Amino acid sequence: MQVGRIYQVPAIKHPSLEVYYPICGPRHTDSEFLFFNVPHYHYDVRFLDLNLTPDILDPPSALTLVHTGEGVPTLRPMKMLRETPVFPVEEAYWLSTLESAYAEVKFDCRTCPHRGIIIGDQPQHNNIVVCPGHGLRWNTLTGKLSARKQTT
Ligand code: FES
Repeated sequence: MQVGRIYQVPAIKHPSLEVYYPICGPRHTDSEFLFFNVPHYHYDVRFLDLNLTPDILDPPSALTLVHTGEGVPTLRPMKMLRETPVFPVEEAYWLSTLESAYAEVKFDCRTCPHRGIIIGDQPQHNNIVVCPGHGLRWNTLTGKLSARKQTT
């Protein structure tokens, strides 16, 4: 995917404004590993217009924010505004739990096995793609999880 181009992106409409929030992956809870029981979507910050979402101050922190409102995604034409910023993995307390849970799971180089977020089109660095959902790092050569200490 290229910055500046228009893509059809799943988006959730603001309940009262004509603002659409780009999201990635399905609505889910993270109750089994992370004890977060609120249904939510993750923003797709590549398409997130920060002028329309003043409560989200900068892209890296937006990665940790989720959309907890109701709504069914519809495809909207949206401009890709940026690549996904590097997930702040050092601050993500849940990652060691997820890394243990997914240590033996194989990545198909397209979809994150955790919540099904499509990450095959995310930027890679040293054959590592970082899922914008919760920050798991997948090696596209081996299909295995790459722990944080191996890539930072
Ligand atoms: S969806 Fe959770 S790490 Fe990918």
